Amino acid sequence: MGDDTPGDTPEETPRPAATEAEVEAAWHDTDLAQVLYHDWESGTYDDKWSISFDERCIDFASARFATTLGPAAAAAPKPFGRALEIGAGTGFFSLNLRQAGWLEEVVVTDVSAGMVDVALEHARRLGFPDGEGGVSGQVAGITELPFDDASFDLVLGHAVLHHVPDVEAGLRECLRVLRPGGRFLFAGEPTVVGDRYARALGRATWAVTTRVTHLPPFRERWARSKEELDESSRAAALEAVVDLHTFHPGDLARTALRAGAVDVTTATEELLAAFLGWPVRTFEAAVNPERLGWGWAMFAYRGWQRLGRVDRVLSKVLPQGVFYDVGVTGTRP
Ligand SMILES: C[S@@+](CC[C@H](N)C(=O)[O-])C[C@H]1O[C@@H](n2cnc3c(N)ncnc32)[C@H](O)[C@@H]1O
Repeated sequence: MGDDTPGDTPEETPRPAATEAEVEAAWHDTDLAQVLYHDWESGTYDDKWSISFDERCIDFASARFATTLGPAAAAAPKPFGRALEIGAGTGFFSLNLRQAGWLEEVVVTDVSAGMVDVALEHARRLGFPDGEGGVSGQVAGITELPFDDASFDLVLGHAVLHHVPDVEAGLRECLRVLRPGGRFLFAGEPTVVGDRYARALGRATWAVTTRVTHLPPFRERWARSKEELDESSRAAALEAVVDLHTFHPGDLARTALRAGAVDVTTATEELLAAFLGWPVRTFEAAVNPERLGWGWAMFAYRGWQRLGRVDRVLSKVLPQGVFYDVGVTGTRP
């Protein structure tokens, strides 16, 4: 770790859990909620989202990156030189893209010190050198990036813009640190319509699963403890505070243009795959994880992959707005 790496000072140590008083305060303070919630999640985030750094996630991150690049993919450099990831979490996007050969040098940033620590730990485990030419990390928010003008070839992010209060200001700051002609790319953001059906499916799955697993024939082997369910409910309550936006693809593109970007395009993914993915993820959170083995994981992943292939065909005929995920890319003039 370098001198400016998070985790070296006591106040940056990730918190194992939020107290009820902290959760109460976070209801009225979005910035505090972002840090608290994501620090809290950093230790369990990979399990929650089935994040790994093997072929499965390398392929997933790489396909999502290429889909969002869209027509620009053909002319894109591989690797991009110096890349900055915003809201990197545990490093899912940029570390897997580096493994796929899309990126060379990576700086991972996040408002949560806990997340940056976990991402750097993964980078070390994957054998990436620390610092210049390898992977380094820093605690930073999108609207105040502690980097020089024009110091990156690529600024990227995954599932982060929907947490940012002022998306246009965030994108303007990303353009500032990009060299002229440099590219930004944000993927994995929820669409307005997609978020509606995902939440409805999640709520229905949670209600049915928690009821059924508390019936006598299932209780002992399938139910989660009351404490675990309470913890999930508290997390879900804070989630409602940190999830600030959903996007219409056209509006997201216009926001990027207003921020000063050019050559802006959007791409959307996951319709049928989201219809499977959200109930599956909710079911996994609602039952005793010991009951779900490798067979379940492969069923869920293969099913999701197959439906994703159908979605790619559907994306040629259906409007962008009906899909669950939207990504946006463009360049600095
Ligand atoms: C949903 S997680 C996504 C993490 C990771 N990119 C992934 O796809 O697994 C969103 C991340 O954005 C971070 N975040 C929230 N607000 C932010 C902001 N204003 N600037 C930078 N990061 C932010 C959170 O701390 C969290 O780690």
